Amino acid sequence: MRQLEGRTCIITGGAGSLGRATARLFLEQGARLALVDRDQAALEEAAAAMPVGSELELVVADVSDAAQTEAYVRRTTERFGRIDVLFSNAGNFGVVAPIETYPDDVFDSVQAVHVRGGFLAAKHAVPHMNDGGSIVITSSVAATRGDPGVYAYITAKHAQIGLMRCLAKELAPRRIRVNTIHPGPIDNGFQTAVEDDLGRNLGVDGAAFFNQMIPLGRHGTADEIARSVLYLASDQSSFTTGSMLMVDGGMSV
Ligand SMILES: NC(=O)c1ccc[n+]([C@@H]2O[C@H](COP(=O)([O-])OP(=O)(O)OC[C@H]3O[C@@H](n4cnc5c(N)ncnc54)[C@H](O)[C@@H]3O)[C@@H](O)[C@H]2O)c1
Repeated sequence: MRQLEGRTCIITGGAGSLGRATARLFLEQGARLALVDRDQAALEEAAAAMPVGSELELVVADVSDAAQTEAYVRRTTERFGRIDVLFSNAGNFGVVAPIETYPDDVFDSVQAVHVRGGFLAAKHAVPHMNDGGSIVITSSVAATRGDPGVYAYITAKHAQIGLMRCLAKELAPRRIRVNTIHPGPIDNGFQTAVEDDLGRNLGVDGAAFFNQMIPLGRHGTADEIARSVLYLASDQSSFTTGSMLMVDGGMSV
């Protein structure tokens, strides 16, 4: 029996690296899936790489916009029925800059995607979720530490834990489990951009800066994150709620 057979799932940030890898695994596991992203071209490219015959709905939406959130939830339920799994995963990074000059608009735009986006996704999806469902929010190893200049991203990644904890308690009577996943540095374009920016600011080689902080000594892969999301999304984690699943090669230890 496949782990998500017939389950209706939503993945935001679905055109990106972690979203795509998780989408492929969810579909292989029998999910009916709405893939949400603001980047239409990337969404179509992602869809082309999915297994043939997948039950897949593509929705272009900005997760920080309430009306667009309501719309992607409606598109999902109209096509597939009530929701079993919400994977709130869309993300942006902002910039690295000293506190005195950190740009206000960048700070706001990063909170808008991770914090407001996660809040809106839950707000609009929960009334349409089946009891016993699962919400997974992509936070980061960045939620367990501070680094100079990473104001927007690290603040947002910490805030997502607060959102997750409130949801976990409120939704437990409906057996809807809510957890955050905390990837460490992943070998993909998002992380390369982070390393270039941080490296420039600290005057170090960004990739080496991270590798020496990871006990397993390497970056993770998108497929490794996808398998951990599947664990949280499926009945394999039926007694796990309110938890922070670190998938970071030990970086937070
Ligand atoms: N890559 C890493 O090393 C790493 C580590 C820890 C956490 N994360 C987190 O994982 C998540 C996925 O990141 P990724 O590595 O796949 O990066 P990615 O850039 O490949 O994917 C992010 C996706 O989110 C989409 N997106 C951004 N803003 C949006 C918005 N307002 N509305 C809708 N879609 C939007 C982008 O278009 C993109 O497709 C993010 O939350 C990120 O913070 C990544």
